[in-house]
Amino acid sequence: MLIMKYHIVTYGCQMNLHESEKIAGMLKDLGYATESPIEDADIVVFNTCCIRENAENHAFGNIGALKKLKRQKKGMLIAVGGCMAQETGKAQILLEKFPFIDIIFGTHNLNDLKDLVVQKRTERKAVVNIKDARTEVEDGISPVRTSYPNAWVNISYGCNNFCTYCIVPYVRGRECSRAAADIIGEVKQLLKEGYKEITLLGQNVNSYNNDGKGGMSFPQLLEEVASCEGKYRLRFMTSHPKDFSEELAVVMSRHDNICKTLHLPVQSGSNRILKLMNRRYTREDYLKEIEIFKRYNPNGVVTSDLIVGFPTETEEEFQETLDLVKEADFASAFTFVYSPRTGTVAAGMEGRVPEEVSKDRIMRLIAQVNAQTREKSLHYVGKETEILCEGYDEKSKMYLGRDSLGRMGYFAGESDLIGKFVKIRVTRASGISLYGDVLSIE
Ligand code: SAH
Ligand code: SF4
Ligand code: F3S
Repeated sequence: MLIMKYHIVTYGCQMNLHESEKIAGMLKDLGYATESPIEDADIVVFNTCCIRENAENHAFGNIGALKKLKRQKKGMLIAVGGCMAQETGKAQILLEKFPFIDIIFGTHNLNDLKDLVVQKRTERKAVVNIKDARTEVEDGISPVRTSYPNAWVNISYGCNNFCTYCIVPYVRGRECSRAAADIIGEVKQLLKEGYKEITLLGQNVNSYNNDGKGGMSFPQLLEEVASCEGKYRLRFMTSHPKDFSEELAVVMSRHDNICKTLHLPVQSGSNRILKLMNRRYTREDYLKEIEIFKRYNPNGVVTSDLIVGFPTETEEEFQETLDLVKEADFASAFTFVYSPRTGTVAAGMEGRVPEEVSKDRIMRLIAQVNAQTREKSLHYVGKETEILCEGYDEKSKMYLGRDSLGRMGYFAGESDLIGKFVKIRVTRASGISLYGDVLSIE
């Protein structure tokens, strides 16, 4: 029997990476037994993102590049799903531009993908299935996990916050919490299977159970998940500052296995811009939260997301963001130039910041963030740290992984160390990366 193969191209956030693992699980059930390079695949799935314009351009470019291959391999199926496919009117545009697409599916009905593939096998026309809203939580798909020893676990889907720049609430729908018992069950199973690091995923983990469907608050859930047996690490993302609580900081301090990293996107250091962004906290609120987090977790680090060039942002307001990066002492941060998204409130705002101004601001912001990251890395030199080994880098011929605070660590090793906790003494630091000698392996 011929073995059918699949290839998945993923754009965007961890949520999407994990959803691609679920897509792979469904394809496996349909008989697509192995992953392969794109040229050999019997089905290619694009799991898209639309958070910024360049994410969309990227996907458009890659889908377009398949035209020739599809002409040569008529039997190969091409499916496009994810956040960009879910956008209003996008399915039509995709089909007009790329008539060779076979299947288009949205974010609200991932579970339907299996039926769509079966349907397409007997239908000539493209199969398009985009639902307006989520009707159920997507449980029951066994993912093909690709990131051992790390595993992602969804705790909620969607977002209710409507930050004025952001398209996520439009393409992911309203926030919907998974039942705590299901989450804890999944984590226990993963630990049994040997996974060593669990990352709980939600657009806003701090508002978990606001819909009452979880059964407990996020700090309670974290406490439960941190109390399972065995040696493992626990991470979570993303926390929204408006829902941060002291209780969360306390729970983090109580469990050694909860990594003392708080990813708390601030977006801007200016209160006027924060208000225009509908973030619902001030710069002062934000700094207070960091103080609370560090009071309970003195060795903890805070990382963030930052946007420059939001409509009407002035040089002085940008300076406030730069100052906040210093004051909040970020260990690292993701930095973005504002990208207008059709249908969002900010897209209709006047006062676009010229591209060259935004570019100049982001360069200065990146320089500041990098300087802080480098400085923190230097403190590691001569010290011990524990790395969870995640992979092997062919280029440097070294194993690599992260320490509990999120630094990348590189070290030489003979046996297969992936999935092991490796203590190293840091001999050199460069950017966010640490290099060291192995002291012990667990
Ligand atoms: N739910 C998470 C993040 C989701 S998107 C949160 O609220 O923190 C990840 C990041 O992308 C955001 O934190 C923001 O910094 C950035 N982002 C979202 N929309 C954007 C846009 N239109 N232009 C530029 N950056 C954007
Ligand atoms: Fe977007 Fe704001 Fe929701 Fe995050 S909290 S996903 S930035 S709307
Ligand atoms: Fe993630 Fe992009 Fe969607 S960031 S939620 S894949 S728009």
